[in-house]
Amino acid sequence: MSLGNQGKSVFVLTGAGVSTGAGIPDFRSAGGLYDTVRPDLITASFLQRQKMRMDPTYVVERDMFFQNAFPYLEVRRPFILGTHQQQWKATISHWFMKFLEEEGKLKRLFTQNIDGLDYQTGISPGRVTNVHGSIARVSCEGCGQEMPFDDFCTQVRANIKDIYKVDPEAPEESTNIPCPSCKRPLVKPNTILFGSCLPEEFFERTPELGQADLLLVAGTSLVVSPANSVVNEVPSSCMRVIVNREQVGRDLGIDYGISAARDIWSGERTCDETFLELIKLMGWQDRLRRIRHL
Ligand code: OAD
Repeated sequence: MSLGNQGKSVFVLTGAGVSTGAGIPDFRSAGGLYDTVRPDLITASFLQRQKMRMDPTYVVERDMFFQNAFPYLEVRRPFILGTHQQQWKATISHWFMKFLEEEGKLKRLFTQNIDGLDYQTGISPGRVTNVHGSIARVSCEGCGQEMPFDDFCTQVRANIKDIYKVDPEAPEESTNIPCPSCKRPLVKPNTILFGSCLPEEFFERTPELGQADLLLVAGTSLVVSPANSVVNEVPSSCMRVIVNREQVGRDLGIDYGISAARDIWSGERTCDETFLELIKLMGWQDRLRRIRHL
């Protein structure tokens, strides 16, 4: 696989699979966030437990959050605190995007990830569209009042102790975080909940995909829309390279047949293995030193 002539105008769509190499679980794999949701531990409400068992994504739904913010905060807690402690480092996959930018090939990175690892490489923030928001800023989902990330983390950390003290029938009553302005317990990182609108920027940037001659799709199951629509916004002449350990997106028209004209699959390898190979094929080995020195 080479990016040779084709990759003059490269667009990228990434998902949680580019960050699993850093130690952050994805959503839908075995051991991922939705696989490990424990409704019995995070909500006292029978109805909420039932809904979450039927569909674990309920834990990050808007309706659920407005009824009871606690389950969202509880499943996100390790992630919020890990981010605060700068526990995770950008992977080879993240660095590959930075190298593409340095080569003048990267036109835009659409990331569904909220972890902000892309920015650790020094990639230009203006080249990155955070399709599902970002964890780095915190605000009230109700009134929009911002809260400093450090203050928020202090309260999230304090709740770890509280949760063992509170009434198991209503844990959320004493552990939700009140908004400093409207006092409602709706404070959370600026990530998109199911049922909320995507950032305007996603819709503003999507037309740029018309210039793509190569689309890299990395570490995403391609099941969440409208983010997954990116694969069909590129011209029909655009090559689509799926870097994922499983074949995804068949229902969106990605063609894994042997006579596929423009779709290529990386095979059952990790994203990092594929991007490392690409780095070598592109002759960018000297850049690897930057990663290894970190
Ligand atoms: P998923 O968990 O749905 O998909 C991750 C994909 O990456 C799967 O196909 C995995 O097999 C693959 N994968 C995981 N680790 C890998 C690795 N090291 N190498 C190669 N492939 C790997 O995550 P997303 O597609 O990002 O939205 O999920 C999309 C959205 O669903 C998220 O942004 C989030 C979630 O609900 C919201 O919360 C709004």
